Amino acid sequence: MAYNLLKGKNGLIFGALNANSIAWKIAEKAHEEGAEFVLTNSPTAFRLGEINKLAAKTNSQMVPADATKVEDLENLLIKTMEIFDGKIDFILHSIGMSPNVRKKRSYDDLNYSYFSQTLDISAISFHKVLQSAKKLDAINEYGSVVALSYIAGQRTFYGYNDMAEAKSMLESIARSFGYIYGREKNVRVNTVSQSPTQTTAGSGIKGFDGLYDYSDRMSPLGNASAQECADYCITLFSDLTRKITMQNLFHDGGFSGMGMSARVMGFYNRCLDNLLPDEW
Ligand SMILES: NC(=O)c1ccc[n+]([C@@H]2O[C@H](COP(=O)([O-])OP(=O)(O)OC[C@H]3O[C@@H](n4cnc5c(N)ncnc54)[C@H](O)[C@@H]3O)[C@@H](O)[C@H]2O)c1
Repeated sequence: MAYNLLKGKNGLIFGALNANSIAWKIAEKAHEEGAEFVLTNSPTAFRLGEINKLAAKTNSQMVPADATKVEDLENLLIKTMEIFDGKIDFILHSIGMSPNVRKKRSYDDLNYSYFSQTLDISAISFHKVLQSAKKLDAINEYGSVVALSYIAGQRTFYGYNDMAEAKSMLESIARSFGYIYGREKNVRVNTVSQSPTQTTAGSGIKGFDGLYDYSDRMSPLGNASAQECADYCITLFSDLTRKITMQNLFHDGGFSGMGMSARVMGFYNRCLDNLLPDEW
């Protein structure tokens, strides 16, 4: 059911790679809610061609940009404002990639050049988007910028590797830039900390299936899906949340409030019953 929450709003959506991407679901939902937007992704992602299908479905234009390159971002923002003949109302940053994760380097054997790339792609790009947008005065008053995060930015999760540092930095940028952008331009900046979700980036995490199942058993409402994440992000782009800024907002079925659930305890106890004494 659509509520027209984004009718009359123009946006910019980073990170729709394929139909599993969280950004893909957010774009579909934003379209349903009446928004118009430009779709962007890296030139490599554009070459894969999937994004064309989303653009056709949502009647959107596409502009490629490597989010680590300020000149690409400036060009993207200028083109987006030309397309809409004015400023934009919302931006989604849905970007993450770790070469260390891809090359299966463990956290105590990181390649530091890869580590810098992880931070640049997954966190500093958020600062670059915000700084470029502010310098070009690209966002309307009470516009909204949302980036996607994960709880491993605050607590240790086995296998999340150097993406944990990237998420900590991402959440910190939302606070630091959120203060300045709010004070000077009334623009909101938040991160949404989403449950594990089956996507290209998500499935790259070591032990993802176990993490997904654990998180689902631990959360009173179960894992939040990409579709549900889209619903939540739409409210953050809408006028219903005009005073929410500088927050890391958990969208995780209650996982972040839990210590132990009956479902995990039951599962764990059944496993313990089957362990040999020297495996304890
Ligand atoms: N999948 C999960 O379990 C999960 C959970 C919480 C948060 N997140 C976050 O959600 C966001 C979206 O990830 P996803 O799970 O939808 O996976 P995804 O692989 O579909 O999306 C990641 C996107 O980042 C883009 N990207 C990579 N390098 C880029 C660059 N240099 N310039 C521009 N774009 C670039 C990719 O092309 C891709 O579209 C990420 O920030 C991810 O960390 C994912």
